[in-house]
Amino acid sequence: MGLVHVTTRKGDKYHLELHEGFSLMDTIREAGIDELMALCGGCCSCATCHVYVDPRFADRLPPPGDDENDLLDSSEHRVQASRLSCQIPVTADLDGIAVRIAPQTKTVSLSTGETVSYGTLSPEGLPSPVQN
Ligand code: FES
Repeated sequence: MGLVHVTTRKGDKYHLELHEGFSLMDTIREAGIDELMALCGGCCSCATCHVYVDPRFADRLPPPGDDENDLLDSSEHRVQASRLSCQIPVTADLDGIAVRIAPQTKTVSLSTGETVSYGTLSPEGLPSPVQN
């Protein structure tokens, strides 16, 4: 169906097969890239699936919903290219998309109101265009 090009925080690159019916988060997790923690399993309540999306693909994605927007606002690493990968359904339009896993957030506010601390910050940039 196509490929998603994933760059990890360390700069490792993966080229993963896309499968319709799954989310981008599912695709990344299924490949064993566990730095994308996805703690809530895709319920849009943790923001640990935060990625930076290649801006060339922005208009091919559904707009973020209110819950996604609120969660992204809670991240100190939100940029214009920020999305929660669990909220991005895989479609044929995404073939060739590049994403970079966003820096880890020190704390995450869960929908329960609980705040969870984990990890350390690491500076990262936006995904670079992929040369085919
Ligand atoms: S996996 Fe929790 S918000 Fe995406």
